[in-house]
Amino acid sequence: MTESSRTNRREFLGNSAAVIAGGVVLPRTALSYSKTIGANDRIALAHVGIGNRGRDLDLIASKLKDSHHVEMVAVCDLWTVNRDKAAATNNAYYGRAPRAVQHVDEILSMKDIDGVMISTPEHSHSPILKMVAEAGKDAYVEKPMGNVMAEAKAARDAVLQANTITQVGTQHRSEPYQKAAHQIARSGALGDVSKVEIVWNYHGPRWRGRPEVKQIREQDTDWSKWLLTKPARPFDPQMYFEFRLYKEFSSGIPDQWMSHAIDMVHWFMDDDFPVSSVSHGGVFAWHDGRETADTFQTLLEYPKGFLVSYSTSFGNDAPSFTRYMGKKASLINDGGEGSPRYRLVEEKGTHEDDSNIDEKRKSQVVLLPGETKLPPLGIDDLTTEHMANWFECMRSRQQPHVTVHNGFAHSVACMMAAESYWTGKKVFWDAKNETITDSNPTQT
Ligand SMILES: NC(=O)c1ccc[n+]([C@@H]2O[C@H](COP(=O)([O-])OP(=O)(O)OC[C@H]3O[C@@H](n4cnc5c(N)ncnc54)[C@H](O)[C@@H]3O)[C@@H](O)[C@H]2O)c1
Repeated sequence: MTESSRTNRREFLGNSAAVIAGGVVLPRTALSYSKTIGANDRIALAHVGIGNRGRDLDLIASKLKDSHHVEMVAVCDLWTVNRDKAAATNNAYYGRAPRAVQHVDEILSMKDIDGVMISTPEHSHSPILKMVAEAGKDAYVEKPMGNVMAEAKAARDAVLQANTITQVGTQHRSEPYQKAAHQIARSGALGDVSKVEIVWNYHGPRWRGRPEVKQIREQDTDWSKWLLTKPARPFDPQMYFEFRLYKEFSSGIPDQWMSHAIDMVHWFMDDDFPVSSVSHGGVFAWHDGRETADTFQTLLEYPKGFLVSYSTSFGNDAPSFTRYMGKKASLINDGGEGSPRYRLVEEKGTHEDDSNIDEKRKSQVVLLPGETKLPPLGIDDLTTEHMANWFECMRSRQQPHVTVHNGFAHSVACMMAAESYWTGKKVFWDAKNETITDSNPTQT
């Protein structure tokens, strides 16, 4: 970055939009939870569902074991192979073998567990979160928080009732570049935002071809407990590991990717529930028996008066981006999920009057204080800040960065997008009754 662009950036961002690196402190909950973990007490963790993402979460937690004084004391997975692996890995991380059990009930009855991490497939997030809250334990639950309305509500209500500390796993809210960009979005620097456009692409038969499909045997797991709330059916190893492709278990692109994207929009725009959603898409790129779309787009209207377009294609990897389009400036996030590279671009003139207008618009990369290097176009899923925030909140009993209210809101947006896609209808959010309807509740 040149000196002049640095100066311009300062002028352009102004004082109110100064980049930040610090944490966001949320108010204490109205009800103060009686359980306290002393500053010197070790936090005892358990973990349910330790596959691909679960292994990431175990690594993340282990990186914080000394700074946050935590230990994984119990692991739980229905499948022997993943359970044994998790026990061995955590033994290596902590120098002590965790208890290893097959069923979540066994975890819930362990009195010494303070917090439970949940990284099972998405159809079991809400049901397990509800059980964990009812057992009075804190939770870190992967996204989406839920994908069946009644189950997501029941989980949220159970957490509120028990007043436990629950962090929902949209981890980008805790990352420093996202926090800096959030501060800019909230500063007024963009002017009125009327549109948010999100395009996250990938080239390939995403979510097909999991190697575990050939490895797993029915006798080494508990299929009925994997199905949990779903009707019985013969064992299906593809459904077991490629659940993202089967509509009864996942909406695919909305549950997997849009949950992250829309959670960021809710946070940047301070607007939580869509008014309506219209979706379209299909299986156009990978005819491999998948049920969920490989090409998907939804439009969501929000109460503050802006439209969000979310679009993903698995048939072409054209560059991904997110852009907040305001009357004074655009905030552009180059790259897909979690990319830390943001630019603030002045909104001046029009292409119709000046075809070179792009070159005349001031454009500033968002950098953290002290940073001079352009941040990368993407990051992995291994950032530690979100988990650290959960541990800190478990001690302070303050609310974490992504509460069950936020998790419920991203789940509602994803469920609306999916329902519109499957029904072919425009759907509305009835906030009073907390239901998705196909008639506008404000006009009935
Ligand atoms: N936050 C992120 O960036 C991120 C990244 C990847 C995945 N995820 C989320 O993680 C979740 C898991 O994805 P994955 O690819 O790791 O799945 P996976 O199939 O690799 O792992 C799931 C594990 O859970 C176990 N399991 C299933 N039901 C169980 C139950 N009722 N009790 C105990 N164990 C059970 C399975 O045996 C398996 O070992 C998904 O819902 C996904 O949305 C989040």
